[in-house]
Amino acid sequence: MDKLSPSMFIGVSGNDIISFGSGQPDLPPPKEVFSCLPKYHDFKYGPIAGSSKLRQALADQNRGFTKDNFVITNGASEALDLVLRAIGKPGDRVLLHTPYYYSYRSLVEINHMEPVFVRTEQGKIDMADFEEKVHGVRAVLINSPSNPTGRIQDIGSLKIIEKTTNDLDITLISDEVYKDMIYERENYMLSGSHVVTLNSFSKTFAMCGFRVGYLFSNDRSIVDMAIAIKTHSSMNTNILGQEMAYHATQVPREFIESQVKIWKERRDIIYKRMHGLGLDVWKPEGAFYILPKISNPQKFVWEMFRQHKVITYPGDWFGADGRVRFSYALDTEKIEQGLERVENYLAKG
Ligand SMILES: Cc1ncc(COP(=O)(O)O)c(C=O)c1O
Repeated sequence: MDKLSPSMFIGVSGNDIISFGSGQPDLPPPKEVFSCLPKYHDFKYGPIAGSSKLRQALADQNRGFTKDNFVITNGASEALDLVLRAIGKPGDRVLLHTPYYYSYRSLVEINHMEPVFVRTEQGKIDMADFEEKVHGVRAVLINSPSNPTGRIQDIGSLKIIEKTTNDLDITLISDEVYKDMIYERENYMLSGSHVVTLNSFSKTFAMCGFRVGYLFSNDRSIVDMAIAIKTHSSMNTNILGQEMAYHATQVPREFIESQVKIWKERRDIIYKRMHGLGLDVWKPEGAFYILPKISNPQKFVWEMFRQHKVITYPGDWFGADGRVRFSYALDTEKIEQGLERVENYLAKG
């Protein structure tokens, strides 16, 4: 069996393959994002912080912020990297809740910092463990709804995290790329002068490949440092992508609501089916991932791929040993077919 790595699966399709691997929406972006293309003619470098028009549109949607609180980035991925580089010194510690999005650990380590892992119970942060480990860290990184669990954090816990980090003068990084995909309640946006919010057009507007995300904060020292670093690293984010993202900000809210309805239907199907298979699984409350317990995940992922043409990701990439991540960003027919193959595989057991 080969060593499993994300590059084995990213972009792999066709030939009767059913992929529960990829973390990108299969649904199309709103048609409005393409409206600028026929007349588009800009090609020069743009402002490092991002297009003024796009930043203003985002400020209009986020009370208490002006466009100068925003930096437009190459996805939330670059936003997180810039924030870590802006705030961290070698050896600083960054608190993550497990299971975590697989780039978190790598980005913290690439930036010469050390991840500290807080336990979760069924995807919910163990607050006693949080209180014990939070002292002395440089930053806390929260991702609700979470990739890979699909779980959201309780509002009570989020308020404690917000207050504790503020009291201890710790930067609170809130990755809200799935904030528009919550099935159970409205998003609770972490806020305060110590908070840096990350977001993206990748998931809400299905624009992953255009690579447009952003960070914003009332802490102008972090915003300014992020711009200073970006000036010498990637420079401006793709200007055509930003123009398309601007058009996404003008799309009526009903677009998002109609997508959430589709995600929720899929969530119901996959959760019910996995539950029916007797798998130990937590009900996703947002995003589009589910993380069942599977014995010998490496073997499962490898054999499902080689023998049954089903792509899934082993939980250990996300700090979730003993589990396997399924993304349900695919149509209901494919979800059913894929789970049929999983059922047959498990039955042979
Ligand atoms: C939790 C989380 N944060 C950030 C990202 C990166 O998103 P982007 O495409 O905006 O770089 C992802 C992508 O899967 C994600 O799941």
